[in-house]
Amino acid sequence: MIYPIVAYGDPVLRKIGAEVEKDYPLLKQLIENMFETMYESHGVGLAAPQIGKAINLFIIDSSRFEDEKYPNVKKVFINAEILDESGDKWDFEEGCLSIPHIRENVKRHDTLRISYQDENFETHEETYDGIVARVIQHEYDHVKGVMFVDRLSELKKRLLKNKLINISKGGIRVDYKMRFPASR
Ligand code: NI
Repeated sequence: MIYPIVAYGDPVLRKIGAEVEKDYPLLKQLIENMFETMYESHGVGLAAPQIGKAINLFIIDSSRFEDEKYPNVKKVFINAEILDESGDKWDFEEGCLSIPHIRENVKRHDTLRISYQDENFETHEETYDGIVARVIQHEYDHVKGVMFVDRLSELKKRLLKNKLINISKGGIRVDYKMRFPASR
């Protein structure tokens, strides 16, 4: 099943994702549907708030950026906590399925250490760097109620303000299903 992607401006994107319990109803199905939704919209990551569920769950598939240094990481992150970020900050042009047609450079640390549970509720503690860390940082922000545009300069935010309002009203064309908070 493909979920509509929640657009910028929906309050669910601002909630801190609740901890996911082991007995969360139909979790396997939810994860499967999230992968289907992500592939349908050509995303490299998708967080539960983006399909309207304020829980600490996100998925990534970094195959688009796969090379010798960064083999593909396709994973489910449940109850993730970033324990530490380190390394030089670098710019990368980010986009977001909830904010179509806007891409901006965001500075983030190169390396992170994260603890999370997988779909079988096994706990892991792992280190990622480079582009894979970048995808994780972006999705992790979503489960903390943060969006990449929050990380831009005040000037950039002002310049984007009307575009963002337009997105929340549904005044854009996208080739995947979306749900707009301010449309009638
Ligand atoms: Ni995003």
